[in-house]
Amino acid sequence: MWFLLIFSITFTNLIPQSSANDSFCPSGWSFSLNTSYCYTVSSDSYTWSEAVNYCQSIGGQLVNVRSGREYVFLTQLTSQNLLQPWLGYSRKSDGNFYDLTGYSAYYAYWAQGEPSGNGDCVTFQGQNNTGLRVTPCYNIQPALCKQMPALCPNTTQYGGTYTRSGVITSPGYPDQYYNNLDCLYYITSPPGTYITIEFSPWVVEYWYDYVFLFDGPDFTYPYIGEPLGLYGKNSFESSNNSLTFFFYTDSIITDKGWQATWTAKANTPPISQSGLNGSLTSDNYPNDYDSYTERIYYISTSFGFKINLTITDFITEANYDVLRVYNSSTVNDNYLVANLSGSSVAPWNYLSPSNYLTLKFTSDGSVQKQGWSLFWFMQ
Ligand SMILES: *[C@@H]1O[C@H](CO)[C@@H](O)[C@H](O)[C@H]1NC(C)=O
Ligand SMILES: *[C@@H]1O[C@H](CO)[C@@H](O)[C@H](O)[C@H]1NC(C)=O
Ligand SMILES: *[C@@H]1O[C@H](CO)[C@@H](O)[C@H](O)[C@H]1NC(C)=O
Ligand SMILES: *[C@@H]1O[C@H](CO)[C@@H](O)[C@H](O)[C@H]1NC(C)=O
Ligand SMILES: *[C@@H]1O[C@H](CO)[C@@H](O)[C@H](O)[C@H]1NC(C)=O
Ligand SMILES: *[C@@H]1O[C@H](CO)[C@@H](O)[C@H](O)[C@H]1NC(C)=O
Ligand SMILES: *[C@@H]1O[C@H](CO)[C@@H](O)[C@H](O)[C@H]1NC(C)=O
Ligand SMILES: *[C@@H]1O[C@H](CO)[C@@H](O)[C@H](O)[C@H]1NC(C)=O
Ligand SMILES: *[C@@H]1O[C@H](CO)[C@@H](O)[C@H](O)[C@H]1NC(C)=O
Repeated sequence: MWFLLIFSITFTNLIPQSSANDSFCPSGWSFSLNTSYCYTVSSDSYTWSEAVNYCQSIGGQLVNVRSGREYVFLTQLTSQNLLQPWLGYSRKSDGNFYDLTGYSAYYAYWAQGEPSGNGDCVTFQGQNNTGLRVTPCYNIQPALCKQMPALCPNTTQYGGTYTRSGVITSPGYPDQYYNNLDCLYYITSPPGTYITIEFSPWVVEYWYDYVFLFDGPDFTYPYIGEPLGLYGKNSFESSNNSLTFFFYTDSIITDKGWQATWTAKANTPPISQSGLNGSLTSDNYPNDYDSYTERIYYISTSFGFKINLTITDFITEANYDVLRVYNSSTVNDNYLVANLSGSSVAPWNYLSPSNYLTLKFTSDGSVQKQGWSLFWFMQ
């Protein structure tokens, strides 16, 4: 009865489907979609401690059974075997059986009548009374090895000194990500910038699979947050030019995954002017402004007065390098008065409806021009 209960809990969930296959494993190993591990059974037979060494020598370890899915998979894998293969369990001084990483053998995976006193090591029985079976360690049996496949990207470094943006997707996106992932991502952007990142779409098993973001070059830096899809926010920013995150997934249930788009933003503080009059230019004027400029200009004058602003010179890349004018004290699209770009803007004159004006200049990565110059006075 306990047996049925455990399996019905585990398997009423979605069966994962992913695009991974044997090509994700070293040759001679088979990939299990149900567990996201690679497996192989040795053709030779060994004692238990020789089997431990054998699996290590080929890059894996003697199998432990970590889920109902893995149990079913092993039953299928070994159902035709004449010799029951070794698992990575052995009896410790407390009399109980533990795997090579120190986890105790889950009681539901033992064959009926086990664990018996018939030895101190464990094999897997794939037919009839299936499950873990205590076996003398000196027996000669095949080794059943497993290893993590290479499912995380083979690089962890993204961006760089000259890279302003990028797109990163979860492994297997947009089909299906894999179980048991712990993938790392380090993003760097040019000096003097900070990184904004947005996860969209975000289609990930709620709570059990997650991305954690950190504000710096590794995950010892402060935690920034995690995307939550419909349950919360999905965009984040770093305070400097590096960002780290990891994608962790548990052993069951996967989904489509995520796509993260990141952009470097110039860390340029806003410029504020107030008083009776003033003048402003784009950075470096009359030399070319920089690529990826993003700067805000706040103008204010005495309450009850207005701002008469005149642009005397204006040359930018049409449609891409834009000076936006807002009739408000902040950048707010509802108060956008003009998007100015190109070379036929100047002279341009505007009288604000109140004593505030805000301007924002942005440039893209290609084609820089001399920019703009303006003056304003209280009226
Ligand atoms: C296995 O996956 C790889 C990478 O996604 C793909 O190129 C290959 O065609 C797949 N092979 C099979 C047999 O599905
Ligand atoms: C995966 O798990 C499902 C559900 O238990 C089972 O029907 C299927 O045979 C398993 N496949 C493999 C390859 O283990
Ligand atoms: C499994 O059980 C069947 C009948 O129940 C029997 O014929 C067969 O020999 C058994 N196999 C093993 C390996 O014990
Ligand atoms: C990563 O994998 C890609 C293709 O899958 C390959 O072109 C590239 O050389 C690999 N990079 C490294 C560092 O192994
Ligand atoms: C930002 O990162 C740079 C390295 O790119 C470092 O020199 C600088 O100290 C960092 N600034 C802050 C405030 O952490
Ligand atoms: C600009 O304001 C200053 C005082 O802040 C004043 O001395 C100057 O005459 C003004 N210039 C113009 C052109 O109004
Ligand atoms: C703004 O000032 C200019 C002179 O610089 C003047 O020609 C223009 O009429 C003024 N605009 C308004 C709406 O008063
Ligand atoms: C400010 O600009 C917005 C958008 O152009 C416009 O709808 C609004 O009427 C302006 N406000 C005033 C007081 O002129
Ligand atoms: C500014 O440009 C955007 C598109 O970039 C456009 O949707 C908007 O209507 C423009 N607004 C004005 C006031 O020209």
